[in-house]
Amino acid sequence: MSTELNVKVTARTGEALGVISLELRAADGSPLPPFGAGAHIDVHLPVRDAQGRFLVRQYSLCNDPAEQDRYVIGVGRDPNSRGGSLWLQDQLQVGDLLHISAPRNNFPLDESAAHSVLVAGGIGITPLLAMSRRLRTLGRPWTLYYCARTPERAAFLEELRAMPARVVPVFDGLPGGEPLDLGSVIADAPADAHLYCCGPASLMEAFELAAARRPRQQVHVEWFKPRAAAAHAQAQSERPFDITLARGRMMLHVPVGKSILDVLIEAGVAIPHSCCDGVCGTCETRVIEGVPEHRDAVLLGEAANISDRMMVCVSRSAGPHLTLDL
Ligand code: FES
Repeated sequence: MSTELNVKVTARTGEALGVISLELRAADGSPLPPFGAGAHIDVHLPVRDAQGRFLVRQYSLCNDPAEQDRYVIGVGRDPNSRGGSLWLQDQLQVGDLLHISAPRNNFPLDESAAHSVLVAGGIGITPLLAMSRRLRTLGRPWTLYYCARTPERAAFLEELRAMPARVVPVFDGLPGGEPLDLGSVIADAPADAHLYCCGPASLMEAFELAAARRPRQQVHVEWFKPRAAAAHAQAQSERPFDITLARGRMMLHVPVGKSILDVLIEAGVAIPHSCCDGVCGTCETRVIEGVPEHRDAVLLGEAANISDRMMVCVSRSAGPHLTLDL
């Protein structure tokens, strides 16, 4: 498993309708591992899923990356919650202890960009808030489009409005409100701008479509749920395949209905993992030989044709065999 930290909840604040922020500090008062804008932590919850496993959920850090004594996360009340966000919202109190991972960043900010365009939907504002804080520190220009149903649901809005950026709120739940015109947003962005999006799947998919002609390395998305396309691929008939562990000098068979991660754990191979949903990046493994079939949201967001690494919790093999650096 990834490195775990023990933290204490030191503040809990209502930020908007259905959104709270939680301030976490090391239980022993020591400094916390540093993080970059866009990073997230895994939060281990005392809530079990339908299979009896404890839930692990990913939350972006939204405070200033310069702070070393605390992490702040935003938690939205998810109507489709499988128990994680509801437990954090309804049960967790100031003074309670939590186990979390060290920060990991699948959504890093390009700090050298001449201009950055940030598109947030709902609770997806959290990594973009950390980016805004960092861009302010760097003195770089940026534009933030912030989509929410109504102003009452837009967490951190006043703070963002006070920043030296162009902040464009988009409230499609107000009378006469319209969804964000992503085609215009992308068309208006300077050619060298880096573009970022985090929010609900519908917004992310529309953003990727609108930005499809921009250079891939300038388009950044952060998924916190498996993609619909990946889930669809998952549901399609799977093929069995074999894996060779180059360092362990072991060959294993991955049957239909089991993931590479399942097979590794059964064989007693220690491999870091967390979400098991293809969204956190913890189980990333180097591929030495063979072609992976990516079904995760981490590498699909970066470049679908990456063949030297894969998330073994959900991704499979395009051919009959893979050799992994394990
Ligand atoms: Fe999270 Fe594999 S365990 S991506």
